Amino acid sequence: MSDWYKDAIIYQLHVRAFRDSDGSGTGDFRGMLEKLDYIQELGVNCLWLMPFYPSPLKDDGYDISDYCAVHPDYGTLGDFQEFLNEAHRRGMRVITELVLNHTSDQHPWFRDSRQSPESSCRDWYVWSTTHNRYRQARVIFLDTEVSNWTWDPAADAYYWHRFFSHQPDLNYDNPSVQEAILDVARFWLDRGVDGLRLDAVPYLFEREGTSCENLPETHAFVRRLRRFMDERYGDRMLLAEANQRPEDLCAYFGEGDEFHAAFHFTLMPRMFMAIRREDRQPIVDAVIQTPQAPSTCQWVIFLRNHDELTLEMVTEEERAYMQAEYAREPRMRLHLGIRRRLAPLLDNSRRRIEVLNSLLLSLPGTPSIYYGDEIGMGDNFYLGDRLGVRTPMQWNSDRNAGFSSANRQQLFLPVVVDPEFHYEAVNVEAQQRNPASLLNWMRRVIGIRQRFPVLGRGAVEFLEPANLKVLAYLRTDPETTILCVVNLSRYAQPCELDLRRFSGRKPVELFGNTMFPPIGELPYFLTLGPHSFYWFRLSGP
Ligand code: GLC
Repeated sequence: MSDWYKDAIIYQLHVRAFRDSDGSGTGDFRGMLEKLDYIQELGVNCLWLMPFYPSPLKDDGYDISDYCAVHPDYGTLGDFQEFLNEAHRRGMRVITELVLNHTSDQHPWFRDSRQSPESSCRDWYVWSTTHNRYRQARVIFLDTEVSNWTWDPAADAYYWHRFFSHQPDLNYDNPSVQEAILDVARFWLDRGVDGLRLDAVPYLFEREGTSCENLPETHAFVRRLRRFMDERYGDRMLLAEANQRPEDLCAYFGEGDEFHAAFHFTLMPRMFMAIRREDRQPIVDAVIQTPQAPSTCQWVIFLRNHDELTLEMVTEEERAYMQAEYAREPRMRLHLGIRRRLAPLLDNSRRRIEVLNSLLLSLPGTPSIYYGDEIGMGDNFYLGDRLGVRTPMQWNSDRNAGFSSANRQQLFLPVVVDPEFHYEAVNVEAQQRNPASLLNWMRRVIGIRQRFPVLGRGAVEFLEPANLKVLAYLRTDPETTILCVVNLSRYAQPCELDLRRFSGRKPVELFGNTMFPPIGELPYFLTLGPHSFYWFRLSGP
């Protein structure tokens, strides 16, 4: 078993939104095949695909009605296989979704379950004659759901759901459910997927008197799935989506016998906070307070994804600050978060976009980049739910941004035409032509990251320059030391770094390969322009 996920750079994308090959208005696997060159040139080496299974698409595919097939709008299982093989041929890994907590209410299991108390699948879901059970479990989709119970007239009972009411939770106390989900995992692992992102993993079991999150039974099932995977398949990875505090989250690594990797949900909002407050402390605290993961495990860090920028895991005060600073209009908010893409969140400031991406690519963890953010795509928060950050990828300035040749009205979602982010200006083709574009900068910075595995695997140590607007840290392994210095402020800043222990060594700036003056016994003095950063390799004495 190799720990390839520690050297991965993940690119998250939605088949539906990437490229439509047949003019249907919806993206598909054949379209993805066409665009593998683009992804490869970006320099990422791992793709994470959002759910592409048959689904009524009321939660954009996280409401699955058939686990072991491809949604007909996106192609066939054969198309998926061809895409996967081609990605592998190019040295890229592919992570797919295992949405195991719930199904769509259109799934045959649920249809059967609700029929009658004698149905063979009755006990596959969580039924109750009252809505008073498990009252300590919070409601997650606060803007749409009032309770975790919904009355089903057909079944003459309430069913349990942690998300939308059309997504009934599976009953993991039933051994048949556990078996069925292992079968689903087997199905996709047999096809060759390299990793599974386990969606909404904290909520598998319910127990009275608890929050119904992170229960020991849930961990036991994860261990079972992990054993199953290790015994039959080498080199595959389990990735946890558990929006929890670091202690609870870290528990999902177990003793190296649960997840290989987990999204870091508390660092993400703190990067946004730090750049707005022009203060390094939120980042330093978030990293320092992160429990040590077992040596085989890895955090996955991210700036944005397909969901709202979640503020569930910050204090109330921090949440109020973030909402005031980043979501002035109420429409920009959803549940406890903010439904915006990276570029609009950062006022479309190229410098700030670069600074945050530099953090993403140099703080400890495996970075995950959300499709479109590499060209600074905008969003459309007038679309419902989280759809405003899932609009078609902008390839060029042709009709439908080159995403599709369909009638404009036929698109699954409209392309972004906001004056500042209009697809005629913000698109791949235009940025490929411009050497100074964000896309070309992203390629360069990803290339540097790939050259220095220490950024994925090394230890981190924060320096303490007196100027709090400057964040400085070392990434080290026995061979390499990288010094990262970041100006979080919109004004130029000086800083003095105590680098005495590296006396005699010369910092080499990684973008230009520029030698800086050697480190001596005195504080090492640097000045930084507004919202800028340096990455140095400390070359040998
Ligand atoms: C996860 C997904 C989110 C989805 C929810 C319910 O949190 O990231 O998009 O709505 O699960 O499946």
